[in-house]
Amino acid sequence: MEFIQEVLTMEKLGSFIKATGSYTPDRVVFNSELETLLDTTDEWIRKRCGIAKRYWAEQTETTSDLAYQASLKALEKANIEKQEIDMIILATVTPDHEFPGTACFLQGKLDLPGIPAIDVRQQCSGFIYALSQADLYLRTGDYRTVLLVCAELHSKCLDLSPRGRNVSILFGDGAAAMILQQTEEANRGVLSTHIMSDGSHAKQLWCPAPGNGHVSAARIDAAMLEQGLQFPHMNGRAIFTHAVRQMSQELLHCLKQNSKTIDEVDLIFFHQANLRICEAVGKLLEIDPAKIYNTIEEYGNTTAATLPLGIDHAVKSGALKKGMLIATVAFGSGFTWGSAMLRW
Ligand code: COA
Repeated sequence: MEFIQEVLTMEKLGSFIKATGSYTPDRVVFNSELETLLDTTDEWIRKRCGIAKRYWAEQTETTSDLAYQASLKALEKANIEKQEIDMIILATVTPDHEFPGTACFLQGKLDLPGIPAIDVRQQCSGFIYALSQADLYLRTGDYRTVLLVCAELHSKCLDLSPRGRNVSILFGDGAAAMILQQTEEANRGVLSTHIMSDGSHAKQLWCPAPGNGHVSAARIDAAMLEQGLQFPHMNGRAIFTHAVRQMSQELLHCLKQNSKTIDEVDLIFFHQANLRICEAVGKLLEIDPAKIYNTIEEYGNTTAATLPLGIDHAVKSGALKKGMLIATVAFGSGFTWGSAMLRW
């Protein structure tokens, strides 16, 4: 009987994004600053990736600091007291420390003891995975307000030498937060989420060390450091091909799941890995380019933070208005991918 009641409650409740907020560090790094450091050129980066600049944190800043600043902005925008938050979900691939999770460090900074703080480690799909969790927890009826934060501090994790130039040009730092709440209104907020992964490609984009996956007595040693295993390694071409294929298929899946056509969607937010990937998906599915909201030129790839940063940017620019139907699609390391449809 209790189970049936629970199911009925889940059917009635949904979740919506009450407010968004974002934070990027003060330091802007234009492509020109990377030319000597990485043996690259502004022209190469713009042409191959569509990136003009990115933000890099100060040495004193941590991932949870960026998350904290973004959280304060979302709380202010939502006009609620922080004590209303009854769960924190934080997605990052660049945590403060190996453990505990960065959500715990954020929780300490927010001074919000006594609620669950969960880390999501799903790389560029982190936002979609975190959103699907937040939505499900809110639908159970046990949680009323969830703080969802995506934060990345890549600049301390990159190989800033010519050896790492194919990766290091792509990534930037930033954080975005959302306050999600329950709603009983049909056709409002999160209409669907869908998450997927294929671990057979786990080493196409990965950071090998430190870790237990080595024949070694230690999680990291001098030989690993010498080889640069502490930095991200990427098979760029494989990522490109899979990203175009999976993001196209995922958008079609999302449309089908909601019985919608592309024409009915007002704005589409693709994960911003490379402008050429988004353009290729748009071309393949014959999407009006005006519907695709790109932010890579300004932020670079901020992994989990990319989608919520883009959504917050669209709210601020006035491009995203109440009542609009939006689709978000991500693809990233793992491989992981997923989508969500929302009525704003
Ligand atoms: N500046 C200048 N030249 C560079 C460079 C850089 N930053 N990075 C690579 N190159 C050079 C290589 O040395 C190589 O030179 P060579 O032909 O003389 O050997 C040439 O460019 C091609 O290298 P390759 O790695 O094959 O480049 P690419 O055409 O695949 O483009 C990416 C590289 C990274 C732009 C592209 O693979 C890509 O965008 N992939 C997707 C990455 C992605 O989305 N990652 C995030 C996933 S969430």
